[in-house]
Amino acid sequence: MRYSSRVHRIAGRTSRAWDIHHIAVEKRERGERIILLTVGNTDFRSPGRAIAAVRDELAAGRTHYSPSAGGRAIREAIARRHTRNTGQAIDADQVITTIGAQNALLTAALCLLEPGDQVLVPEPMYTTYPGTIAAAGGEIISIRSPAENRFHPLINEFEAAIGSRTRAIFLATPNNPTGAVYTSDELSAIAAVCRRHDLWLVSDEVYGELVYEGSHVSPAVLPGMAERTITISSLSKSYAMAGWRLGWMIGPRELVHHAERVALCATYGIPTFLQEAGVAALEQFPNGLPELRAAYRRRRDWLCDCIETAPVLSCHRPEGGMFVLLDVRATGLSAYDFAKGLVLEEGVAILPADGFGDSTAGHLRISLGAADAEIEEAGLRLSRFAKQMCQHMVLLKH
Ligand SMILES: Cc1ncc(COP(=O)(O)O)c(C=O)c1O
Repeated sequence: MRYSSRVHRIAGRTSRAWDIHHIAVEKRERGERIILLTVGNTDFRSPGRAIAAVRDELAAGRTHYSPSAGGRAIREAIARRHTRNTGQAIDADQVITTIGAQNALLTAALCLLEPGDQVLVPEPMYTTYPGTIAAAGGEIISIRSPAENRFHPLINEFEAAIGSRTRAIFLATPNNPTGAVYTSDELSAIAAVCRRHDLWLVSDEVYGELVYEGSHVSPAVLPGMAERTITISSLSKSYAMAGWRLGWMIGPRELVHHAERVALCATYGIPTFLQEAGVAALEQFPNGLPELRAAYRRRRDWLCDCIETAPVLSCHRPEGGMFVLLDVRATGLSAYDFAKGLVLEEGVAILPADGFGDSTAGHLRISLGAADAEIEEAGLRLSRFAKQMCQHMVLLKH
């Protein structure tokens, strides 16, 4: 049978990186003590009030259809929080709820792009971006964010990459996998490019509450940007609610109207009982779970201190987000070979990061979403692995 060309376009680059995860899962199933730091999951529990709200809603039989954009209460709660946290005054009509931020990204691509349109995206980028943009027929033009620039984008490359089919810029700040928190100056320069060339800016802010250095700026607040910015976020990361699939997009009313049509075709909105849970979580913790943020920061510092004292390894101390990037370029090994050795010999699984873009070649992504004890143990095993590797390198030299 025949399938659309779309299914091939969205397949994206196949990456061997996930082999490491699968090796680790198999070892764990055989009973080995494996530390799994590949996925962006968390060890934190979702807020108790959100759990109670779902229980109450289901018990009261509130299990019926709701408007596809989401009910008034959740849209108002998101609007209130956005206005309070960013300073951009919006109302509930500028908000639509989605099945996580991922669904918002796809909805944005479907609302903005014609087949053949180009989208500028700083690389390294979150791995679903290529498939998401391709699903709408778009083509990504990558903007480099090299390690030497602290994984911040080379701002001049935006202007240089503009062509007649450029329609939008997609970016994530704080970034996955690099943890770069784009500065106000960088975002202002990107905003100026958008205004000059009449582009949309899709700002993925799922890690917006997880900032340790600098401060998070929502580009929608910059002059002339409200009418051309789509702000995307969710409860996944900073509320430990990834499995609830509760996200949203914020933008001009007309955009929300189009997004609602997409929702009508795709999802018919998010479950009513989750909406109530969302309201409970947002009202209890307007800035995400404070103890989660504190734990990630502590783990980041512990892990980076440990890596910095280990031979041949170095790390990039992230400004935000929930990942540390380990630099193994000095070992002479590829990120994949390093990861394979580490999981086989020390039982620590971390993700080769080259799949996120060329700028992270020779780096591995380490998730901070595991208990303190696991992170500390992973740091110790990583140091031991590096020391053994050095001894081996010395032996080879003689
Ligand atoms: C940068 C970025 N955007 C979007 C998502 C998807 O988030 P959600 O779980 O809300 O769909 C992720 C998940 O890891 C992410 O890292």
